[in-house]
Amino acid sequence: MKVRKAVIPAAGMGTRFLPATKSMPKEMLPIVDKPVLQFVIEEAVESGIEDVLVVTGRGKQAIENHFDYNPDLESFLEGAGKHDLIDQVRDIGDRVQIHYIRQKEQLGLGDAIRLARYHMGGEPFAVLLGDTIIDPPAGQKPGLQQLLEAFESTQSSVVAVHRVPMEWVSRYGVVDGAPEDGNPNLLRLRKLVEKPAVEAAPSNLAIAGRYVFTAEIFDCIDRTSRGVGGEIQLTDAMNLLAQDAPVYALAWQARRFDIGNRVEYAKCFLEYALRREDTGPKLREFLSQMLAQ
Ligand code: G1P
Repeated sequence: MKVRKAVIPAAGMGTRFLPATKSMPKEMLPIVDKPVLQFVIEEAVESGIEDVLVVTGRGKQAIENHFDYNPDLESFLEGAGKHDLIDQVRDIGDRVQIHYIRQKEQLGLGDAIRLARYHMGGEPFAVLLGDTIIDPPAGQKPGLQQLLEAFESTQSSVVAVHRVPMEWVSRYGVVDGAPEDGNPNLLRLRKLVEKPAVEAAPSNLAIAGRYVFTAEIFDCIDRTSRGVGGEIQLTDAMNLLAQDAPVYALAWQARRFDIGNRVEYAKCFLEYALRREDTGPKLREFLSQMLAQ
């Protein structure tokens, strides 16, 4: 079973980024000059995904506009002779089929994924959280591709996890499992808990915002009652799935930037700006002068 499709939930209100997110989706916040969601879709495409369903909501039209053609902008760029920029503004929207569906009420991540059921048509599919950038160490494959390889070997649902300091566990979904023979980074899961208290957390392995599911997850979402925050939690549905079928976690080395968090967003912006040739050297000089003061 090859995974061709992905769903990207991007319906959250982004309250931690007000006032910026009053009229702009948080997934469109830029990292230098590229919106966060474009990084996420590029990761999907580079991992072999051909079809993406974005779950949006009210006030998220900027997302659809961004991945569409913009004839006014393109003819302006044409007139100004900026052909390389025309390629850039068209590129990602041309490399993948993008579809949209709206979540009418904020009923949680599990509910957002449920909306993808008919689009997925019974096939296995990937989930990439639209406000999370995964940054693998240099030379490693894109995050989702690593997860898809784990799916190919297990033919079972698999979620990416990373170790976090124990005092952070209550921000995440946390998993408990046992390593598979021959691969210490692949755990067969026994239990998953959404945002546990530190005392109740089964480990410090936190769900990192990338998943691959078999279609069985949809029945589990239907059987999931409201959990933390009164929302239908995807983690709770995965916990139900793990009782009936193998579910794995891949513990990976990739760094994860949670763009919903202001400090993480600032770190991500700075790190990517420092890496780029057009911005890095000047910014490095500025920062060292500033820090020396
Ligand atoms: C969601 C998931 C959680 C996961 C986290 C990763 O939480 O529910 O299991 O660990 O994303 O970012 P949220 O950040 O939407 O509260």
